[in-house]
Amino acid sequence: MSTPQPLLLSPAPSKCSLEMLTHHYGDVYEHSPWVAEAAWQQGLTEAHDTPDALAELMGLMLQQASSDQQIKVIQAHPDLAGKAAMAGELTQDSTTEQAGAGLDQCSPGEFARFEYLNSAYKEKFGFPFVIAVKGLDRHAILAAFEERLNNDVAIERQTAIEQIIRIARFRLIDRATNTCFS
Ligand code: GUN
Repeated sequence: MSTPQPLLLSPAPSKCSLEMLTHHYGDVYEHSPWVAEAAWQQGLTEAHDTPDALAELMGLMLQQASSDQQIKVIQAHPDLAGKAAMAGELTQDSTTEQAGAGLDQCSPGEFARFEYLNSAYKEKFGFPFVIAVKGLDRHAILAAFEERLNNDVAIERQTAIEQIIRIARFRLIDRATNTCFS
């Protein structure tokens, strides 16, 4: 029996110039290519050529960033089932993720619920609700939304950052399994 090969990113991050890394992986953090740039500045080795290893280093860059930078990354996320989604204005990753969770299939009542929660959440916290939606359906997302609305700001900010790191990890795994040649 052959041993399973580790999942590898292509192009290999360790072989990328700063420009190449940003071109291929800069968008795994929504509108925030500086996270990939900061990871590159750390010095990438072959150990970073798996999605998990690159995701971990990029996540560390976000955890170590100033709270101003962290808030900007959270704010770069579109509302779930929001107006931008309905107008087809999301990034390709967000479109796929939101559709994958069935958010494009909400009933009028569910859309109204998302609209209410998106506003109430942003009013309370000053940034949009972010959750890694992979594996969740819209009912689970709505339940998490209602629950997280009760958190205090510090907890919710850390939760949003952790969720964004998870989203980026899923996006990198997806890149490794859907090798693209652009
Ligand atoms: N989780 C996964 N994708 C998204 C997104 O596009 N927006 C928000 N708010 N959360 C997400």
